[in-house]
Amino acid sequence: MSAPAPEVLRLERVGKRYPMGDTVVDALVDASFTLREGEFMAILGPSGSGKSTLMHILGFLDSPSTGQVFFDGCPVASLSERQRAHVRAEKIGFVFQAFNLLPRLTVRANVALPLSYHGSPPADAEARIDRALALVDMTHRAHHRPGELSGGQRQRVAIARALVNEPRILLADEPTGNLDTKTAAAILDLFKELNRLGRTIVVVTHSSEIAGHFRRQLHVRDGRVTEGGAA
Ligand SMILES: Nc1ncnc2c1ncn2[C@@H]1O[C@H](COP(=O)(O)OP(=O)(O)OP(=O)(O)O)[C@@H](O)[C@H]1O
Ligand SMILES: [Mg+2]
Repeated sequence: MSAPAPEVLRLERVGKRYPMGDTVVDALVDASFTLREGEFMAILGPSGSGKSTLMHILGFLDSPSTGQVFFDGCPVASLSERQRAHVRAEKIGFVFQAFNLLPRLTVRANVALPLSYHGSPPADAEARIDRALALVDMTHRAHHRPGELSGGQRQRVAIARALVNEPRILLADEPTGNLDTKTAAAILDLFKELNRLGRTIVVVTHSSEIAGHFRRQLHVRDGRVTEGGAA
């Protein structure tokens, strides 16, 4: 048997508790799992079960209340805010549940945003933008604004933006939630292709049909994460 692929992210008994007036919400309880290089994983669960909370922790957008997160074997809590922002910007691409495109900017300028996150953009910035737009087949709309695009096209632009730094991991929170079946299938094919090219991909979905296309499924229910077989 070949050795397992290197680990990218590892969660050890991670919990997230939010204050809610006089009480608290346990959005995530004791979550433990390892994500390895090259995985193609779906996170499945009903509304309010904790999927976005989990994704935000995987993408360093939020910190756990309890437990530990490791990136490349290194405890994330031991990184400074600056180091964490650096890893997030360079290694993790995030597609938000709402697309979060800036309406006044063109498609091209939206895709370019993460490149200037750390001061000056890289020398090959223009080439990276071209590659990201081509991957999602949006080159022909580069000079349009988000308001002039369909929902599926906006989603593809959000994916191009997440890919422009050529991150190791792509995290997408419900990327097909607002799309019709045909457009959702096209986005799913795009993820399959990106995974075939070597990217580690994690996608949140409500849909067990969509989750069935992934090699691994995690189920989240009332903040508890379990490993799924077939969805
Ligand atoms: N900032 C917050 N403050 C308080 N409670 C929160 C906060 N964010 C999320 N929650 C609560 O945590 C729980 C999990 O929320 P989360 O957004 O992770 O769910 P979800 O599975 O992504 O749902 P959906 O499928 O509707 O997007 C919910 O009960 C929610 O109300
Ligand atoms: Mg959510």
